[in-house]
Amino acid sequence: MDSQRSQAEPGHPPLAALAVQPLLNRDYESRPAAFYERLRAEYGPVAPVDVLGVPAWLVIGYSQTLDILRDTRGIWSRRVDAWRAYREGAVPADWPMLPVVESGNSGFQDGADSTRLRGAWGEGLRPFQDRSRTEAKALELAVRRYADELITVLAESGGRTGWADLSAQYARPLPLMVIGRLLGEGADGDDELIIDLWRVMDAGPDAREASERLTARVAGVCEARAKNPGADLPSYMLAAVPDLTTDELTREMAMMTGLVGDVTGTLICNTITEVLIGETGTRDSLSAGMIQEAINRASAANPPMANLAFRWAKADVRVGRFQIAAGDPVLVSPAAAHLDPAFTRTSSPDSIYSSRAHLAWGAGPHACLGRDLATTVTTIAVERLFERFSALRLALPADQLPWRSSPLMRGLRSLPVTYELADGPPEPPARPPAADEEPEPPSDGGPNSLARRVLRMMRLSQP
Ligand code: HEM
Repeated sequence: MDSQRSQAEPGHPPLAALAVQPLLNRDYESRPAAFYERLRAEYGPVAPVDVLGVPAWLVIGYSQTLDILRDTRGIWSRRVDAWRAYREGAVPADWPMLPVVESGNSGFQDGADSTRLRGAWGEGLRPFQDRSRTEAKALELAVRRYADELITVLAESGGRTGWADLSAQYARPLPLMVIGRLLGEGADGDDELIIDLWRVMDAGPDAREASERLTARVAGVCEARAKNPGADLPSYMLAAVPDLTTDELTREMAMMTGLVGDVTGTLICNTITEVLIGETGTRDSLSAGMIQEAINRASAANPPMANLAFRWAKADVRVGRFQIAAGDPVLVSPAAAHLDPAFTRTSSPDSIYSSRAHLAWGAGPHACLGRDLATTVTTIAVERLFERFSALRLALPADQLPWRSSPLMRGLRSLPVTYELADGPPEPPARPPAADEEPEPPSDGGPNSLARRVLRMMRLSQP
């Protein structure tokens, strides 16, 4: 551990006065390894960067990232009011990341506030993540059906062989369909909610209005659950922490829509991409039937959350070669940490970190609580895809794939492939539904199936 509390003379100018490199640049998007290597050579495990006009420390060393995430000495705050520049009004009002850091959800709380909200999450997600529970079994069957419907619809235009965008036609709509299920009765058939989410995620010209409508709809669902609980995530969270206000629950559900809709969709897409490129061991793991290992390898190569949205130092602290001042913003970067030679040496026999030691789910007091759910959705999505197609190939050279330009996310804008369908209709579910589960409708994507409705709304399917 080389970060230690210190009041020593910093010996270098403060963050705001350092010549900061823009985080978003062409290499960051298309050749991140080259960008992080350059930063590592110049600055060591922590580098001053410019995040859309705001200076911040980017933590790129594996052990420094892990130390900060674990935060055993309570040095790091997730509360935006710990940010000196923010308190002083020095953060531009139109800084694009303000809505994220001001969202006030559990991601931006400390101490007892964080523990309370995490308690609600843990209990609320349990029925969906404990595979012995009815809700979890029903969700797995539903995800499988959604996957089959989407595959059926995307393959319709081309016959046995064809071209598809697996991001827009598969990886992104699939988790959108899961959101309605988690929100429960009423929301599961609410097409407008799904399409507004899509508009928000696409950050198009109508994103702001869509976001307002989405929040209002989610608030409506939360209010209804407080009066009439059901077998859904908001109701279970309320049951665990009854004094959760509708506002708090709405903030958490808004966060959930991003985590399921965007982040899980990105993991699905990144895993498929790594299988198709075939360079990171993801394909070998999948071929060997080790889907968890395949997801770990894809998560190490391209963690969906490349950088974790801001922490602030509560006290002056030395990390790497720099003295981070109290109130400075820090972005820890799992993407860069995974390229640290200390981590990439993992395949050597004397390695101290296994491939499971990747940081794509975070670590410590803020570690992901929805990991099992996201892994289940991704597992089913990836398995069904490679079961139903006998051949899938990238339609672009790997180095020309269009990566999103985002300070936080690592994902593709589109994943163009050519495909060949396997013989025969989709197999029935691996096991028949148990007595306490709803029977599932057929997986053929009937004319008014959710898959077709979602794709139509995304204008990816014929009316
Ligand atoms: C592939 C999908 C996902 C990935 C890669 C992911 C990753 C992460 C990461 C890296 C963190 C830590 C953030 C930080 O320390 O700054 C986190 C926190 C969290 N995630 Fe996930 N997540 C995913 C999906 C989900 C889903 C589906 C849910 C719930 C439905 C969820 C719920 C949470 C919660 C409640 C936290 C804790 C916030 C906190 O205490 O600060 N995540 N996730």
